[in-house]
Amino acid sequence: MITAGIDVGALTAKAVVLDFDTGRPLGRCLMPTGASPEQAGETALAGALEDAGLEADAIQASVATGYGRGAVQGVDWRITEISCHARGAWHLMPEARTVIDLGGQDAKAICLDEAGWPLDFEMNDRCAAGTGRFLEVMAAALDVQLEELGELAASANSAAALSSTCTVFAESEVISLLAENRDVAEIAAGLCETIAQRTMQMTNRLQVRPELVLCGGVALNAGVHRAMERALGMKIVVPPEPQLVGALGAAILAGERAG
Ligand SMILES: Nc1ncnc2c1ncn2[C@@H]1O[C@H](COP(=O)(O)OP(=O)(O)OP(=O)(O)O)[C@@H](O)[C@H]1O
Ligand SMILES: [Mg+2]
Repeated sequence: MITAGIDVGALTAKAVVLDFDTGRPLGRCLMPTGASPEQAGETALAGALEDAGLEADAIQASVATGYGRGAVQGVDWRITEISCHARGAWHLMPEARTVIDLGGQDAKAICLDEAGWPLDFEMNDRCAAGTGRFLEVMAAALDVQLEELGELAASANSAAALSSTCTVFAESEVISLLAENRDVAEIAAGLCETIAQRTMQMTNRLQVRPELVLCGGVALNAGVHRAMERALGMKIVVPPEPQLVGALGAAILAGERAG
């Protein structure tokens, strides 16, 4: 059976076309969500179909997820990001017992049982702190590319202490530190520490058990990955395409429901 998962996030829309029987992704697409979640979902799916070399009528079951899932037309089911990220991470790593998704606009931590079903979760979707948006604002303030921030942080000898996790206050702090001529790499390291601390706060109530899988776009930031490993005192696995985990999980759930 060929299935599709479409994850329309706050910043990026992702689609995966899956050969459900083998578990092998045949095509994928990642693009900015822009102003229309409906259009983004449609275009991302078309991109994944093209990547797979398939026509739309090849899809036998589909699931939409992500904050924009309600706007996606023509899908069989709409399922929460919690369920889809859990399924996707567990498919990639059946030993996964905790999944942390750091996206553009929200952050989630999910505890899984042995079969990969969510047992409990925590979510921060109320403010930008601890999300990709926080890092985007800070990269702009530091005048560095978002993609460079992680390696820059890793090159620092120490991390600048930032007292605020709030995006607005932290940006003012960064500007003050730059005015004091503090090393940009140390500030970048301090920002990665801030994300790690904020994520730790979110997971406080949960039982964080290994293996821990980190996904979402922020997982591409090596500085955040390392800072989180230090903060949690645990090895953290980042899958090769961390932004596609939710869409992959959606495609798997589509196949399971159609089963
Ligand atoms: N190459 C990269 N290096 C570092 N960070 C990156 C990179 N690419 C993307 N990001 C980060 O990933 C974030 C987007 O992540 P993702 O695509 O998972 O968000 P989303 O699913 O649209 O959002 P949400 O899940 O909150 O609705 C960006 O804000 C950015 O900080
Ligand atoms: Mg997301």
